Amino acid sequence: MMSHDFDQSPCREGTDSLKWQRYGDALPLWVADMDFPAPEPVLAALHERVAHGVFGYGAPPIALTETLCARMANLYQWAVKPEEIVYLPGLVCGLNVACRAVGESGDEVLVQTPVYPPFLAAPGNQGRQLVTAELTAESRDGRLYYTIDPAAFAATISPRTRLFMLCHPHNPVGRAFDRAELSRLADLCERYDLTICSDEIHCDLLLDGRQHVPLATLGPEIARRCITLMAPSKTFNIPGLGASFAIIQNPELQQRFKQALRGIVPDVNILGMTATLAAYQHGSGWLRELLLYLAANRDYLVDIVVRSLPGVRVTVPEATYLAWLDCREVDLPGNPHNFFLKEAGVALNDGATFGPGGEGFVRLNFGCPRARLTEGLEQMRVALLRH
Ligand SMILES: Cc1ncc(COP(=O)(O)O)c(C=O)c1O
Repeated sequence: MMSHDFDQSPCREGTDSLKWQRYGDALPLWVADMDFPAPEPVLAALHERVAHGVFGYGAPPIALTETLCARMANLYQWAVKPEEIVYLPGLVCGLNVACRAVGESGDEVLVQTPVYPPFLAAPGNQGRQLVTAELTAESRDGRLYYTIDPAAFAATISPRTRLFMLCHPHNPVGRAFDRAELSRLADLCERYDLTICSDEIHCDLLLDGRQHVPLATLGPEIARRCITLMAPSKTFNIPGLGASFAIIQNPELQQRFKQALRGIVPDVNILGMTATLAAYQHGSGWLRELLLYLAANRDYLVDIVVRSLPGVRVTVPEATYLAWLDCREVDLPGNPHNFFLKEAGVALNDGATFGPGGEGFVRLNFGCPRARLTEGLEQMRVALLRH
């Protein structure tokens, strides 16, 4: 019996929501925030903090740092010391700071595509060169499944490649990479002496009871070359509060990271800190139920796509609330994002923006009440039928 009713969500129209504003009247199943309110303890902590009424400069609560260290120990048997945590106002900020901190101007940053678009932009933003290795897409029982091709990965590396940015779990392909896959990547990074920025923002959103394995926990040699980025923002649906953190256990690497953000990157705002602490301390019951709801939404979505959207292939996400739909077999006029926006009134993410391997795809966010998902899929079915 669920105590949280994820079938209900407040109206978000007129709330300055990026997701609900960008595409006017279209049903928004795009950018990665969910339509659910944050857990009750988070709301209570924020109310209490606001009621205090003084919003001076903040400092990370000691209790938060202790909570994060305890969380890493409990979830992953990962011994993280307080001084190894660097707070950040956003994960995308962390990706950019990592690019700036590692190597020199013109050095290469490797990413696996298709991938969350800021991975593609960050190297260029910071005077680095983007190089890409495509993930391998295959069909498993008619569903789309992605794996890492170590040979393609290694072939992309040149003497100028200094940083590898991993998305783990992977947005948009929904993979929670397992220990064997991660070990193969780690071996390659050691062999070619790459620093790694592992974006693990979706680490709490593993479905079906899967367990996340932080890359840095594979061993001291890999931890030494890792910048791990995590946040409560996807997990507890508080991305608008801008709170996240890096774990960097190599002091020299951490020093370079801190130097790269100095004077440019602001501190995390005080409400973000308050929400983060409350979420990690008191949000686990809510999260357990959320994961069940998301898994049920995913199963429902996959079933509808297979039965009712002929020619479209879909991933079965192991993590995240993002599904990745291959529309290349459907003969659509123009790209599928524009087609579904105009013909179905459903706003999705355009796969082409996710880099090589993304063209002809769309990403669909199923972090919403089931009725809204049903409505969107039905509008997509009818549009395809009419077409
Ligand atoms: C893999 C990944 N990294 C980073 C972000 C965004 O992080 P932030 O809002 O903290 O910049 C997202 C949001 O969708 C994401 O999926």
